[in-house]
Amino acid sequence: MGDLYVPLDHERGGVAAQVASGLREAVGSGRLAPGDRLPSSRDLAADLGVSRGVVVEAYEQLVAEGFLVSRVGSGTRVAPAATRGRAVAAELPESYCDYQSRATSPDLGHFPRERWLAALRHALATIPSDALDYGDPGGIPELREELAGYLRRVRAAEVDPADLIIVGGVAQGLSLVLHVLAEREGRLGATDRGGRPGAADRAGRAGAAGNGGRPRPGGRAGRIGLAVEDPTSQRQVPLLRRAGADLLPVPVDGRGLDVAALRERPARAVLVTPAHQYPTGVVLSPGRRAALVEWARESDAVVLEDDYDAEFRYDRDPVGCLQGLAPDRVVLVGSVSKALAPGLRLGWVVAPPALAGAVRLARSEFDLGSPVIEQYALAGFLRTGGYDRHLRRMRREYRRRRDALVRALAEHLPEVRVRGIEAGLHAHLDLPAGWDEERVVAVARELGLAMEAVGPMRFAPGRPAVAAGFSRLPVHRAAEAVRELKLRMSAGAAG
Ligand SMILES: Cc1ncc(COP(=O)(O)O)c(C=O)c1O
Repeated sequence: MGDLYVPLDHERGGVAAQVASGLREAVGSGRLAPGDRLPSSRDLAADLGVSRGVVVEAYEQLVAEGFLVSRVGSGTRVAPAATRGRAVAAELPESYCDYQSRATSPDLGHFPRERWLAALRHALATIPSDALDYGDPGGIPELREELAGYLRRVRAAEVDPADLIIVGGVAQGLSLVLHVLAEREGRLGATDRGGRPGAADRAGRAGAAGNGGRPRPGGRAGRIGLAVEDPTSQRQVPLLRRAGADLLPVPVDGRGLDVAALRERPARAVLVTPAHQYPTGVVLSPGRRAALVEWARESDAVVLEDDYDAEFRYDRDPVGCLQGLAPDRVVLVGSVSKALAPGLRLGWVVAPPALAGAVRLARSEFDLGSPVIEQYALAGFLRTGGYDRHLRRMRREYRRRRDALVRALAEHLPEVRVRGIEAGLHAHLDLPAGWDEERVVAVARELGLAMEAVGPMRFAPGRPAVAAGFSRLPVHRAAEAVRELKLRMSAGAAG
């Protein structure tokens, strides 16, 4: 292949990460197409004026992410499905707003409209006019207090309201935290390159887990090696990359994230869904929880805990959050998206004090905070017990729906293996060999079953599977829908 344009800032640290990021961008923008052969590491290193080891490291990173494939004899090529991981999609995929197919969305027909309206009315009738000004970018104190109490009580989290930041959902929480962590890595990288560590770099080094941690105005953008579960939510991948993360996939087995495999990755942070892994539904085992915290302490790394559906547990006692075990290392991120509605865009980040301060400052610099009236409404909803009552009611309903789906599958599709049903709003279905995930998803959609293919969530290949949502499947519809799915899939196979 001819010359490849990869912009590099030699003054900045992390040259291998820059090469990797340049190649990702080349794929994302279409300058490199799936199947294209890349220059040898020796040639590209010579073109870019860097050592060959730098290019080898970048290629290895992209192979681990599934962007490139490397085979003895045929060199390194862009992976056939690489465009799937485009850093920035020019247009939203069609499925983006497809509520019907989302396996993890709640039943929005059960949104407590009357009680939410009462909470909004009460807020508007009682808050002083001054409260409608720009609020604290970290959230109104009333809501931080209520949420801290709730998370201590229900999730066994260790929370000081001062270290809790209100955000627009888990998505924004992760973006902000990663942005801050990547910025800190950028400063560390500049120091590690051989420069003398200046006072600002030392302050940056203390940033995530230690003291100080205020991002300097104009702090350099950096990248951070972030271990992610394989498989993982593919909707999160672009936001993680955009926030500065270079993804390092780590396999998930029956006990959750494989911590021994994590130890082999050059990760500075890890993102996990311990209460109910998405999409496999596995609960992170006690042994793995301890090992993960030990890894974080030994490696001076940060654990990001995505607590996206932890309110819904059906068969066992609730599993406390990881953050409660190691509040100095774990950042807890959650939202009301499953309990109430994703459209409210209300969530929280609980972080060690220095990182919490940096995230709050970043929020103030990005967009000045979350809508104030809704924050008061949620605070009131929590205070008056409305949130707990709604959750109790929905837990009962979702449990009936889950049981109906599981019964229907056992009766009509016994060849499908059902996993991860103790919690959350979806089950993980291992499909019989030869079943095409996308076809199952399309047929399910016609039948009103919300399913998502697991294939696009994988970095390494795996057997066909889907995440099947049961939150919107009425009990009386389950058997008929599953029976029909079986019929249509069998007819397709026969044809
Ligand atoms: C794995 C995972 N994390 C987090 C979320 C929720 O994101 P948010 O709180 O931004 O609505 C979802 C929603 O589907 C999810 O599937």
